[in-house]
Amino acid sequence: MKNLFIFLFIFVGLNVVNARCSVFVQGYVVHIKSDIIDNDGVTVHCRSKDDDLGTHVLRPPNLEFEWLFCDNIGLTTLFYCHFWWKNFEQTFDVFNHKLSRWCNENKKEGNTCNWEIKNDGFYLYENHTTWQRLYPWNAKPI
Ligand SMILES: *[C@@H]1O[C@H](CO)[C@@H](O)[C@H](O)[C@H]1NC(C)=O
Repeated sequence: MKNLFIFLFIFVGLNVVNARCSVFVQGYVVHIKSDIIDNDGVTVHCRSKDDDLGTHVLRPPNLEFEWLFCDNIGLTTLFYCHFWWKNFEQTFDVFNHKLSRWCNENKKEGNTCNWEIKNDGFYLYENHTTWQRLYPWNAKPI
């Protein structure tokens, strides 16, 4: 996981991913976009075993967050995020081996895992065909 680059609100050509990954591994982008437009914003904190991407608040005009990385040789890369919004929260893997197949675009340049955050939960653009709601928001324990 040494080859981790974080870009905020910047579109990054996917070629960049592959240019930086060794020929043996695949490059990925995880893109998270919030559809929730309010002043509270959605707070996101993503991590892997080795990297802490820090805390980001998604609110207008900054509703998107993405990073790119090279999968490791053992295909064991895993990123999980904790999300907070008002009195709700949720935690799940935004990238793991199973999800990597669901966001595979069969492009040698790289693949993007697209997540969208809505009032009723978290959607993945699964297999690049359909938006699927994979998780709801949970009420914070009181
Ligand atoms: C995406 O592909 C996976 C693996 O083939 C499959 O299990 C899943 O049902 C597919 N999802 C959709 C929305 O087609």
